[in-house]
Amino acid sequence: MIKKGIILAGGKGTRMSPLTKAVNKQLLPIYDKPLIFYPLSILMLANIKDILIIVNKGQLDQYKKILPNGKNLGIKITYLEQDKPRGLPDAFVIGEKFIGNSNVAMILGDNFFYGQNLTSQLLNNTKLKKGAKVVLHKVQKPESFGVAKIDKKNKIISIKEKPKKFLSDLAITGLYFFDNNVVRYAKMLRPSRRGEVEIVDLLNFYKQKKLLSADIIGRGGAWLDTGSIEDFYKTSAFVSAIENRQGFKIACLEEIALNNNWISKKMVKRSIKFYGNCDYSKYLSKLV
Ligand code: DAU
Repeated sequence: MIKKGIILAGGKGTRMSPLTKAVNKQLLPIYDKPLIFYPLSILMLANIKDILIIVNKGQLDQYKKILPNGKNLGIKITYLEQDKPRGLPDAFVIGEKFIGNSNVAMILGDNFFYGQNLTSQLLNNTKLKKGAKVVLHKVQKPESFGVAKIDKKNKIISIKEKPKKFLSDLAITGLYFFDNNVVRYAKMLRPSRRGEVEIVDLLNFYKQKKLLSADIIGRGGAWLDTGSIEDFYKTSAFVSAIENRQGFKIACLEEIALNNNWISKKMVKRSIKFYGNCDYSKYLSKLV
């Protein structure tokens, strides 16, 4: 069982400037909560309680105001800083000590997942013992993402980062599961032409050893990314539509923690005080 997870929540944020000049992208709102709540909820749904959040140098204080140490959620949050965006695999170099001898999951701070069987899929993926696993989802514009071509048995044949020529319409989402070799492999990578170490190069180490597998989120599930301002609006509209229709909140962290028996109702009451008089608190009140 994978018990540790990393959220990579740094990045340049240039595409969303001036919004991101003073505030980290992952702290901007997706409808009624900060973006970071959504990837964090995914790790929590995957039953992962030991979480490292990697943030930009100088932005730690912003994060600690909203997610201090995880105690209020019955989890443990550790923070580390990335001094510059060296690429996604840098997370495993920065996180080496945190990872220790364990296997590890990683989710990008700007990825949004939603769907009926998601939790069971997540739990299944954390069973990974050896190798690496990526999560794929069909998209209309594969050229904007890492892409994987698979055979009839869902085995990965080839992967490529943002291919100009069509390879497949299955995007590699920003949710990955790795065995402990990931630290060693990440250290072996050299920056690509764009000056970053590449997740696809890391995944290729596993692919060459026939240890890279895929899980697919079908059309009943949603994977949205929040790379641009337009995406922020679209994802916010999605969350608003679902939440207002059903009356359930997506990515209510206290609700997940309560359902997992990680916190007591007393803890939730403390959270209500912490958030103050707002819609989120009203929702929490209904839970207790
Ligand atoms: O969202 C899925 C896609 O994420 C994958 O399909 C691609 O294979 C993968 O490379 C990545 O592509 P992006 O173009 O979205 O990566 P980006 O550089 O925008 O970084 C994604 C998130 O990770 C973003 O929230 C910032 C953060 N980040 C990124 C880098 C490179 C860091 O915190 N540190 C970094 O060094």
